[in-house]
Amino acid sequence: MGNPKVSVVITGFEAKFYDELLDFITLFQYGKFIKKLMYEETEVGYGDNVAELGVGNGRNAILLSNRVGEKGEIVGFDISPDMLEKAKKKTKDYKNIRIIKHDIRLDFPKEFYDYFDVALIALAFHGFTPRDRERILDNVRKILKDGGKFYILDYNQMNYAKSPFYFKILIDKFECPLAEEFLGYDLINVANKYGFRLTKKRTYVKGLFQYSEFTLEK
Ligand SMILES: C[S@@+](CC[C@H](N)C(=O)[O-])C[C@H]1O[C@@H](n2cnc3c(N)ncnc32)[C@H](O)[C@@H]1O
Repeated sequence: MGNPKVSVVITGFEAKFYDELLDFITLFQYGKFIKKLMYEETEVGYGDNVAELGVGNGRNAILLSNRVGEKGEIVGFDISPDMLEKAKKKTKDYKNIRIIKHDIRLDFPKEFYDYFDVALIALAFHGFTPRDRERILDNVRKILKDGGKFYILDYNQMNYAKSPFYFKILIDKFECPLAEEFLGYDLINVANKYGFRLTKKRTYVKGLFQYSEFTLEK
């Protein structure tokens, strides 16, 4: 215990029990919370195409699949073989979910350019270097349609020194080293450079987490 993780790639034990661990450390609140976000805060319509970057085991993709119906699809991207295997298994009965191995820091296949109405990255953006975050924003800009929405669920920007002690324990002991840097990251202005305008922002757990909606203007 106590060794901060070095990256946001999830493998092994954590991949196997990802949902259970997340539910446990949030005192079984996360399941209800993510359902509410996917159903009520994410603007997704029938027939939309949705990209999830760092799809994990596919829980969010499944929650969104009903909303896009048989005319739309959810495409989940990940690089962890363990997570990809779990996601493929978990989503196998959903005809409108595709799980694809792809490093989101790299250019997406051309077939996805201007393909998506919505993109989502949940609990992962903080784990990339500032340079990689910009690569990801640039990649999302290419795959989203003009006017498309990009949702980021992550830590909120804040003064780390003034954050509650339990949050400092989470960041210091359990998170990857980039998480603390992300708390002071100029997300809104960096996203603006790539054409993303902040159009909605919700914060949770006394402002420690954000769910931000950016709208792309190409
Ligand atoms: C903390 S998990 C979040 C999973 C899911 N989004 C959720 O909300 O449950 C982060 C995910 O991002 C994936 N990931 C990390 N780096 C990646 C990269 N460069 N390209 C694609 N996926 C990546 C990890 O393998 C992991 O599945």
